[in-house]
Amino acid sequence: MSDIVLVTGANTGIGLEAVRGLLRKGRTVYLAARDTAKGEAAVAELAAEGDVRFVRIDTTDEATFQPALDRIEADHGRLDVLVNNAGAAFPGNVLDIEPDVLRLCLETNLHGPVRLTQLALPLLRKSDNARIVMVSSGAGRFAFFEGGGGRKVLSGKPPYGYGLSKAGMNVATALFAGALKDEGIRVNACNPGYVNSLVSRFQGTRTTAEGAEIIIDLATTDSPATGKFFEYDGSELSW
Ligand SMILES: NC(=O)c1ccc[n+]([C@@H]2O[C@H](COP(=O)([O-])OP(=O)(O)OC[C@H]3O[C@@H](n4cnc5c(N)ncnc54)[C@H](OP(=O)(O)O)[C@@H]3O)[C@@H](O)[C@H]2O)c1
Repeated sequence: MSDIVLVTGANTGIGLEAVRGLLRKGRTVYLAARDTAKGEAAVAELAAEGDVRFVRIDTTDEATFQPALDRIEADHGRLDVLVNNAGAAFPGNVLDIEPDVLRLCLETNLHGPVRLTQLALPLLRKSDNARIVMVSSGAGRFAFFEGGGGRKVLSGKPPYGYGLSKAGMNVATALFAGALKDEGIRVNACNPGYVNSLVSRFQGTRTTAEGAEIIIDLATTDSPATGKFFEYDGSELSW
């Protein structure tokens, strides 16, 4: 019986490659995207790789969450792996970020993924091997901001909203992991590295397929590790 996996923000970038890799490992994958046309195009691109199905999820629109989960429940009655990959970079540093931009950033990268995770728990509890993967970032680590931080990002301007959202995702990872440990649901965060995609303004030095590797590993491993933050090479990161 193949694992059922849901990957958000999967019409492009790291998420698309994570879906490709998971299909190649025989998983059934629900490819979530906020834009139906882009999501369906991605499913068409990957259809030859395996069992891939589109669901619409916009992390800023909670109304899209339950219908996607209901579809998975109707098809399979359970969810084995949730990959919270959807995310975006937003402009503005701590001195000048626009309040509405900050709100949208936190909604997209943090509150939406946390709420989706809460709503997915009943389905994950029906799996006997449930995992949650939080796609975080090195920019969610305090070490990134030491000495002003943001070395490579946005022309050296520390990305306040993005960093805040990913630090928050790290907190959520630790808290979900602790709360779900006794149920055997493993929750880990990862940093895909500096990847050539829109989030890095195509400045990243790693390919999207390389960025997806740690996500695929965490989505398929039987390791009991939980509440950890993993670097792209599989080593453990401090928060
Ligand atoms: N690239 C890097 O260097 C890097 C480094 C560390 C962490 N990450 C993280 O890796 C993840 C994937 O990013 P990426 O590099 O692959 O960037 P990407 O190519 O821009 O992909 C981001 C994906 O998230 C989706 N998305 C954005 N806002 C959304 C929303 N409100 N609801 C649902 N989906 C939404 C995008 O959809 P649209 O196509 O519709 O915009 C796209 O599918 C993100 O969480 C990012 O923060 C990236």
